[in-house]
Amino acid sequence: MNILVINGPNLNLLGVREPGIYGSQGFDSYLQELREKYSDRQIEYFQSNHEGAIIDKLHEVGFGDYGVVLNAGAYTHTSVAIADAISAIKAPVIEVHISNVMRREEFRHHSYISPVCVGTIAGFGLDSYRLGVEALLRIEKKSL
Ligand code: DQA
Repeated sequence: MNILVINGPNLNLLGVREPGIYGSQGFDSYLQELREKYSDRQIEYFQSNHEGAIIDKLHEVGFGDYGVVLNAGAYTHTSVAIADAISAIKAPVIEVHISNVMRREEFRHHSYISPVCVGTIAGFGLDSYRLGVEALLRIEKKSL
């Protein structure tokens, strides 16, 4: 299984954006750490601030041998279209959030994508992505 990490809107600003909530590490250096940790794996990365681009990417990989770790950012709380894309594809998708969305504003408590993802990981900082990768590896093991 190839692993694809997708980051949605504003997550290109990690390290700079609201460091009190999202931390001060940029995603590039975190991704490097993640790739080193799982050096026997291909970990691909895609970031977009555009809903349609995220949907196109899900369609592109969703029928291949892929597992997806998805932080849809604010689209989590608004996008029926991304939820439909996840439902449409075969690849397992793990929803991740850096912050604990349930401890934040009420509009962040609802996720359109949770019901169509395998599961949700939130509140562990950037480590949420590693936990997402671990979840995919467990799924892969079970399906062997
Ligand atoms: C986020 C939480 C969302 O509510 C927010 O819009 C984000 C980041 C997180 O990773 O904690 O952009 O997905």
